Amino acid sequence: DPIPAACPAGPAGPAPEPPSLFTWEFAADPYPAYAWLREHAPVHRTTLPSGVDAWLVTRYADARRALADGRLSKNPDTHSGRAHAKGKVGIPGERNAELVSHLLNIDPPDHTRLRRLVSKAFTPRRAAAFAPRVQELTDRLIDGFAARGSADLIHEFAFPLPIYAICDMLGVPAEDQDDFRDWAGMMIRHGGGPRGGVARSVKKMRGYLADLIHRKRAELPAEARPGEDLISGLIRASDHGEHLTENEAAAMAFILLFAGFETTVNLIGNGTYALLRNPAQRTLLQESLDRGESALLATAVEELLRYDGPVELATWRFATEPLTLAGERIAAGDPVLVVLAAADRDPARFDGPDTLDLARRDNPHLGFGHGIHYCIGAPLARLEAQTALATLLRRLPDLRLAADPDDLRWRGGLIMRGLRTLPVEFTPERR
Ligand code: HEM
Repeated sequence: DPIPAACPAGPAGPAPEPPSLFTWEFAADPYPAYAWLREHAPVHRTTLPSGVDAWLVTRYADARRALADGRLSKNPDTHSGRAHAKGKVGIPGERNAELVSHLLNIDPPDHTRLRRLVSKAFTPRRAAAFAPRVQELTDRLIDGFAARGSADLIHEFAFPLPIYAICDMLGVPAEDQDDFRDWAGMMIRHGGGPRGGVARSVKKMRGYLADLIHRKRAELPAEARPGEDLISGLIRASDHGEHLTENEAAAMAFILLFAGFETTVNLIGNGTYALLRNPAQRTLLQESLDRGESALLATAVEELLRYDGPVELATWRFATEPLTLAGERIAAGDPVLVVLAAADRDPARFDGPDTLDLARRDNPHLGFGHGIHYCIGAPLARLEAQTALATLLRRLPDLRLAADPDDLRWRGGLIMRGLRTLPVEFTPERR
């Protein structure tokens, strides 16, 4: 491997003890611990809160290489020897709900086939055509609290926006979307553990989606209009040549919802928070929006993804054969977690990595992953975040934090990084 392992015992003697990971302090600010790992133990074996032992990869170059390494499989069933990790990885309850055959859990050639299929339905054009709808949803949600002068931006804004947006895009009828909001709320509140309520919500969502697919398939021939909802697009793609089982279709719809939901909540939440904590940068953005420009808004969202992105660790990967990463020998079957949040603050790749620079140009961040599992929803996520941030700053120009940053609680899940609440104040909007 071209990247040598850092020498743990530096010239000044033994290195200090590794920082504690996965504590509440760590959840509030994991970046100092990640800086330590990058420097002293860039590929670090640790025990996760679930009791599973896994490797954490924290340097940018190693992270990028690992994300594209075909020897790291997404499927915990492709190897033997690490049965204890099974059932403790992935989405809580998904095994019971037979949702395993989704993109984030499979390797080529199945991955290639399913990804090609969903790419046909999930086009950048479809996302762009969705812009007016995202703007409408954004304004409707802000209408709900603009006259009050205060809000919790997570519950009233960042949380509902992506769930309604993705439901609309999938083609879930408006009258059923509040059910999704409730199920998703259960998953976001209790995500990270195989608790009964989460498993039940996953099951209900899955059942609903299977039923919806069934109904739409029956309706399709009569009203096969091009360019409508994504589930119809998926069905059409599968009916024209490539095979998609009902189970795969339901799993696909589910993973689009699941992967596109909490991530976007956190991009809007973490992003707004970072702007409120960096007033000079926020002013620059606000002024550029006032001038009607959009270039800074685009680089700003990329920088917010790099600086405090929603996905702290990429989803699970497992070594299919023994391999060496940054000098560490990884055994076949070992889980490997790529820490996107650490890689994106690596000073070996980014100038001033701990500084928020909304105009940053050289920014190949890993916030959407890299390689064959690169986020398929990136165009929609960018659209939602840009619309949400620009509209907040335009409509509530003196938006400010209404809590001591030390009192804010972070969710502390393993994969995602996001705030539980984001209390804000502003001059009430007069209508
Ligand atoms: C994959 C991040 C929004 C659908 C990924 C991965 C990352 C990511 C890091 C790769 C995971 C890995 O390699 O282990 C994000 C972020 C988002 C976001 C930060 C929002 C800010 C969305 C949206 C959708 C979506 C809106 C869909 C509506 C997916 C899917 C995959 C994926 C289906 C799996 C792709 C594959 O395995 O081929 N996302 N995502 N994501 N994302 Fe996103």
